[in-house]
Amino acid sequence: MSATEPLGKNLLNMKILNMKIHLNIIKTDALAEIKKAENLKELNLIFKKYLGKKGKISLISHSLKELSTRKRKKVGKELNEVKKFLELKFNEKIQKLKKEIQRKREKEEWLDVTIPGKKIALGHLHPITQIKRELCEIFQGMGFEIAEGPDVESEWYNFDALNVPQDHPARDIHDTFLIKQKDREKLSSKEKLIMRSHTSPVQVHFMEKHNPPLRIIVPGRVFRHEATDPSHEFQFYHLEGLMVDKEISVANFKAIIQECFKKFFKKPIKIRLKPDYFPFTEPSFEVDISCIICDGKGCSACSQTGWLEVMGAGMVHPNVFKNSGLNPKEWRGFAFGMGLDRLAMLKYKIPDIRLFHSGDLRFLKQF
Ligand code: PHE
Repeated sequence: MSATEPLGKNLLNMKILNMKIHLNIIKTDALAEIKKAENLKELNLIFKKYLGKKGKISLISHSLKELSTRKRKKVGKELNEVKKFLELKFNEKIQKLKKEIQRKREKEEWLDVTIPGKKIALGHLHPITQIKRELCEIFQGMGFEIAEGPDVESEWYNFDALNVPQDHPARDIHDTFLIKQKDREKLSSKEKLIMRSHTSPVQVHFMEKHNPPLRIIVPGRVFRHEATDPSHEFQFYHLEGLMVDKEISVANFKAIIQECFKKFFKKPIKIRLKPDYFPFTEPSFEVDISCIICDGKGCSACSQTGWLEVMGAGMVHPNVFKNSGLNPKEWRGFAFGMGLDRLAMLKYKIPDIRLFHSGDLRFLKQF
């Protein structure tokens, strides 16, 4: 007799041993099915099949009353045990499936609070700003204060006050950006506006308002009408310096500049002055430093000369003092101006000045 057939009346004719075997088969079948069940829905169907109202076990249970007392006792006991056993197995399986569901849910929704947070990318200062701050700090350490002036300047401050003659080529439209103004030719040089071509006008602005002794540096943007190439930009950064006192000489200038470069490049640097010409200084010189790459031996960076040109400088011209309201017989001073972009290029070995303002993050992230 197969375990899947309803027992019903057949039970009456069965020997106790056969009944027991039959029950055992039901038990084994049910166990195998419980084991296989993959979800609660499946398990529920299996439960109905065996322990439900019309399930196999229940059917046998209903038939018990037909049996003799002896048989009923024996089979009933056996049946109860199988029933209890299966109920236990169903319960265990329910718990197992519920745990699996829970685990799956936790896996999907699990939040690992110990994982380090996503790092927020922090920006940093532009290399030119870094260089500017570094130099400002070095000069501040030597008693210089920081002064600033406007990017849009009058021709007076940019040229006339600085003793630049009317016919100087720097005034030409090919060199300097002029600001469009109505009837410009009728305006005075104090009214005519341009984009400043250097930071030297701040010398005059400052001396108009402050009495010497004074020491300032002026970091700032300057503009020149230039075709761009690897070493030329139409907008770049200058650092102007001015020191005025009773007894100032070129020796003071040299000492200060030597100290500045030593601190900036973090090694001893030699300085060389060569005669040059600027309308606002007399005498004027070009300042070279010993090549920071080959230390003066000669390399491609310094065109084998061992020297790098870094700034223009000189002793303040008497006319500049006069135009600033100071008595040139009373005061003496030196002034200098250097390109911050060029210094940054030297320090970081950057081959093209245009990279600074290219907005290219691959370039900027290196600093
Ligand atoms: N202003 C000059 C330039 O633009 C540099 C300079 C500044 C030279 C001060 C002498 C004194 O090149």
